[in-house]
Amino acid sequence: MKFFLDTANLEELKLGASYGIVDGVTTNPSLIAKEGRPIEEQVARICEIVDGDVSAEVVSTEAPAMIAEGLKLAKIHKNIVVKCPLTRDGIKATSALAKEGIRVNVTLCFSAGQALLAAKAGAYIISPFVGRLDDIGSEGMDLIRSIVVIYQNYGFKTQVLAASLRGPMHVIDSALAGAHIGTMPFKVLDALFNHPLTDRGLEQFMKDYNKAFHGNTAG
Ligand code: G3P
Repeated sequence: MKFFLDTANLEELKLGASYGIVDGVTTNPSLIAKEGRPIEEQVARICEIVDGDVSAEVVSTEAPAMIAEGLKLAKIHKNIVVKCPLTRDGIKATSALAKEGIRVNVTLCFSAGQALLAAKAGAYIISPFVGRLDDIGSEGMDLIRSIVVIYQNYGFKTQVLAASLRGPMHVIDSALAGAHIGTMPFKVLDALFNHPLTDRGLEQFMKDYNKAFHGNTAG
């Protein structure tokens, strides 16, 4: 499973990249807005930090403008993946961009039917939002499971990116469901490290070793 960071914050990305386990980045207009720099500028900086796919979302809503924007974004860096929303215009733009050899991440996917449309349009990635479905009382993870099966049934090459992951269990369940990629905020990546038995075990190891070789009973 590839790990992507769902942030446009450069400090979080630098820290995440330092672990050597981050395979890419997803951004969206809300995440870019928080950083205060226009999308082209911010994603160019992100590409200097993380060597992997970096999703940059179009902000136009009509297909011709989305296509023009996508072509422009794709020129920023070889790792840019253009992100289009799962609307009629977004799917039109995805088909056109895919025909030009541009990799598209289709975002705001909330049903398996929508995921089929994206795969048929030649999307490189589909982004089903787990947490936002949970928020409205639906089982978000069921959507990941359904899409993985449907894509396998027909041999679609589109990668399933589990998005809107809110905690470590979302990451683990996405991996169990067979998602190719999980994108997560930095705090979720960080939470994956934590286990009280790891802390307690390490403390004991250090205490035993220091006691035996340094006469240090304090640990
Ligand atoms: O980037 C899209 C998605 O991951 C957003 O997550 O938590 O805002 O629903 P969230």
